[in-house]
Amino acid sequence: MNDAELHTALDRCRDAGDAVRMEGFSFHLSGYAVRPRAHLAGELVDLCLKARAMGLQADRISIGGGFAVDYVAAEDWARFTRTQGPNDYHAAKSFSTSDFYPYHSPVAGADALRAILAARPDGGGTALADRLRDAGIMLLTEPGRALLDRAGCTIFRIQGVKDRGGYAILTVDGTSLSLSEQWFNSEYLPDPVLLPSDGRSGGPPVRACVGGATCLESDMLTWRKVVFPARPHPGDLLVYPNTAGYQMDSNESPFHDLPLPLKVVVDEADGRIRWRLDRRPPC
Ligand SMILES: Cc1ncc(COP(=O)(O)O)c(C=O)c1O
Repeated sequence: MNDAELHTALDRCRDAGDAVRMEGFSFHLSGYAVRPRAHLAGELVDLCLKARAMGLQADRISIGGGFAVDYVAAEDWARFTRTQGPNDYHAAKSFSTSDFYPYHSPVAGADALRAILAARPDGGGTALADRLRDAGIMLLTEPGRALLDRAGCTIFRIQGVKDRGGYAILTVDGTSLSLSEQWFNSEYLPDPVLLPSDGRSGGPPVRACVGGATCLESDMLTWRKVVFPARPHPGDLLVYPNTAGYQMDSNESPFHDLPLPLKVVVDEADGRIRWRLDRRPPC
């Protein structure tokens, strides 16, 4: 909402009396920067005070998500972004650094929230935490990816291995729709782990990209030529780590006549690791 719309909305909430409970304001910003979040949160505190002066409840704000996940150390991310180029990808595809999720973030997860709360929204003056406390405003957050950091993995079975002079193309029983960064013309960069079906190990390392099971040449789960410690074989498993946040199957459909991937819940009870299928009732 722009300022005029906000103004109108507040007037209508006031006029609606008991029919509407106006609890507060929220935003969700793209990106992962601390300062714009602190700044906008400060503006919402002011808006709450204004709304209260109109007799509205306005006692909470939500600052959405966008708390980064720090996947790798600064020097590793700097080296990758400095050196990566078309040679590293199938079909000489190119990615610029801004195409990728920021896999290193100096301030991440709960520390990002701490930094937002410690920041001074208007440059000087009071920290956001104190402004919230002084105004009696509850802070709500909606962390997505950061909340699921180190949770979940996605497993594909290798169906075929094609040699392409210097690297291989693995084809798997899934599609690029299973790794959501692919929808944004980006790449999920954590290396998939190879689990050989016969337990073999060793052998010269092999570079391979990973293709999906549809007819589209662009259906790639991983364009990057990942270095595997041994030659992958059909029947081996590829395990993509840390995929609970976003790398889900919400875009997959039965359109290709492929079964929708099963979801397995692993938990611990009475000292034993147990698993079960996570079945959602049909919509
Ligand atoms: C309204 C809203 N809140 C929270 C999130 C979660 O963001 P993140 O995963 O970056 O924490 C999103 C993501 O798009 C969103 O749209």
